[in-house]
Amino acid sequence: MRVAVAGGTGLVGTKVVDRLRAQGHETVVLSRSEGIDLTTGDGLAAALDGVTSIVDATSLESTKPADTVAFFSAVAGHLQREGAAAGVRRIVTLSIVGIDGLGGGPFGHYDGKRAQEATTEAGEVPTAILRATQFHGFAGQLIDWMAKGPLLPCPTQPVQTVDVDAVADELVALALEAPVDQHVHKDVAGPEKRLLADLVRATAKARGRRLWVLPVWLPGATARRVRQGVLQASPGAKVIGGTFEEWLAREHPTG
Ligand SMILES: NC(=O)c1ccc[n+]([C@@H]2O[C@H](COP(=O)([O-])OP(=O)(O)OC[C@H]3O[C@@H](n4cnc5c(N)ncnc54)[C@H](OP(=O)(O)O)[C@@H]3O)[C@@H](O)[C@H]2O)c1
Repeated sequence: MRVAVAGGTGLVGTKVVDRLRAQGHETVVLSRSEGIDLTTGDGLAAALDGVTSIVDATSLESTKPADTVAFFSAVAGHLQREGAAAGVRRIVTLSIVGIDGLGGGPFGHYDGKRAQEATTEAGEVPTAILRATQFHGFAGQLIDWMAKGPLLPCPTQPVQTVDVDAVADELVALALEAPVDQHVHKDVAGPEKRLLADLVRATAKARGRRLWVLPVWLPGATARRVRQGVLQASPGAKVIGGTFEEWLAREHPTG
């Protein structure tokens, strides 16, 4: 099968591309570094020639709601329109568990993800939306983004992080096997409910970094719902992959 991977050079997309190629499928990587800007759609029509499924694993750095909504809506819209014209049979979109009604401020990424889901589902090509919880590496990303000194204020946030490799496996299975006569929704989560601050401390320790992690309560309705655990596995979510500690030991074998 010929499968296009939007964001195929990113963290998740690379793993999806590697898995598809290992199974003998042809892949087309859609990203700016491959000459295709999905916010404009330039070059997309030609790239989708002969493609059966598209996996959308794009992302952007900004968390401003206006930026994320504009980005994800534009990307999903172009993939749908050009996908329909090219005869694509399925678009698989990676989203996030529990984001309904969440957004704004530090949670502006979720505004964009909901716009992405709505845009792709409004299109002609049948869709599969895979909602995953935060990845095990989320704590490390928080350190990279926020910890400029020895102190890191960390939002009080119950999480149920998941191994990104297991998420890539699920995306590949949907791209190859999901039915093409209905919209598919699937939620996946890792095996343990934890506090984000504990994962941040463990990640800093494994990296050999001294970091004082200070749990903080962020203001606002979204932060309150996040504290109540809305980003953890939803009822009926499939539990996939290994634990955070198993993943951390793999990432930092001498940590
Ligand atoms: N991190 C988590 O815990 C988590 C959990 C659940 C779901 N997710 C979702 O997973 C998705 C993928 O995340 P990731 O961490 O793998 O992202 P990433 O590593 O930041 O990769 C983003 C990808 O998007 C491409 N891209 C960006 N702008 C583009 C544009 N204008 N046109 C075409 N391609 C563009 C990038 O390639 P170029 O730069 O070459 O364009 C890159 O391949 C996100 O949508 C996120 O919401 C993340």
